[in-house]
Amino acid sequence: MTVSTSHYRRGAALPVSNPFQRLAALLGDSKPGLPPIALTIGEPQHPIPDFTSEVLNASMADFRRYPPINGTEDFRNAVANWLDKRYGLNGMIDRERGVLPLNGSREGLSFGAIAARDQLGKGLDHPAVILPNPFYQTYAAAAHVADAEAVLLDATPGGNFLPDLDSLEPELLDKTVAFYVASPTNPEGSVAGMDYWKKLIGLARRHEFFVFADECYSEIYRTTPPPGILEAAKALGGGFEKVIVLNSLSKRSNLAGLRCGFAAGDPDFLSKWVRFRGLAAPQVPIPAQAVAARAYAEEDHVIENRRLYNEKYEAAETYLRPILGPVTTEGGFFLWLNTGQWGSATQVTEKLWRDAGLKVLPGSYLASDQSDGSNPGNDYIRVGLVAPLDHTVTALERLARWLGENA
Ligand SMILES: Cc1ncc(COP(=O)(O)O)c(C=O)c1O
Repeated sequence: MTVSTSHYRRGAALPVSNPFQRLAALLGDSKPGLPPIALTIGEPQHPIPDFTSEVLNASMADFRRYPPINGTEDFRNAVANWLDKRYGLNGMIDRERGVLPLNGSREGLSFGAIAARDQLGKGLDHPAVILPNPFYQTYAAAAHVADAEAVLLDATPGGNFLPDLDSLEPELLDKTVAFYVASPTNPEGSVAGMDYWKKLIGLARRHEFFVFADECYSEIYRTTPPPGILEAAKALGGGFEKVIVLNSLSKRSNLAGLRCGFAAGDPDFLSKWVRFRGLAAPQVPIPAQAVAARAYAEEDHVIENRRLYNEKYEAAETYLRPILGPVTTEGGFFLWLNTGQWGSATQVTEKLWRDAGLKVLPGSYLASDQSDGSNPGNDYIRVGLVAPLDHTVTALERLARWLGENA
């Protein structure tokens, strides 16, 4: 398989503005053809867990205290217990040095690459940070912060929307300090299998770079729990060397506003990173860590969350499959629809708004142009299934009608 790889000097892969600002500029003052429905956002709309206020109330006095940068013991234990159970790790997580709280996984993703660069000391002016394309835009910010060249690897349907690890030149891997990849992926909802993770870990160890595995959608899946990178590291042996997983409660527990996530894995990397974070990073408030500790100990609300998303994927199949073929993804809560035959991503987005009142995100806004000028998101739109079922069904009906009438 040929995969397009593009190198961007520092900062050049950074989007001019975020995808939502670009969408607002694209749609400008044009009026929606029908009462508007937003399918753009990635912010969960399902209920937050019912214990949230009770735990916050009980921890209220802790707002007075500066939180420990490496997390409370309760928090670290709850995360380690959850990871242990979810991925069958048999107590491999180092509870002192191998777990730390983040202000949402985004905060850790943003600053992980600079820590990797510092710790590896490869002595390069501009080391490489590898990311998929399309990608969660924070990865480009991470490369920028690390003063690195961003190397974007096309994520194509032929490769299950995961960067092709066999296409990577050893010279590139030698100068790499960080490799970012999500599973389930955003926007495509693909899942990395155990073999993929193992191969990536092998490369990281051979060529000395850190893998930042963004697993924040790990609990939003249809039927089969996605394998995690820690599980693959356990199967491979060698502890969690060069492996960092990032996750949060934003999608799992609908607590995006709590800003509470974690990094776990390589204890040498994390214990050095926490020393730097002790100088530089914002700590996570203790009451937020208390909510997190409780949320990681409970699964009922997570099971219900999955059920609600799965209902919406069933509705998506009903309306869209006759036109587009199967649309259900393995994980995440987006549809990644190939609408290339209806026009470019931005053309389809504009028309759906003007004709059907549907606000979707052009796939090209979630990807960077490759060096040949092509954009791997240009044939796609991203449709978020976060709204309640009735709104989602109305939106899917309209989308199917529009696709049918404009075929
Ligand atoms: C792929 C991906 N990674 C990370 C994040 C950041 O999530 P948080 O910082 O809320 O944990 C998001 C949020 O939308 C995301 O889609």
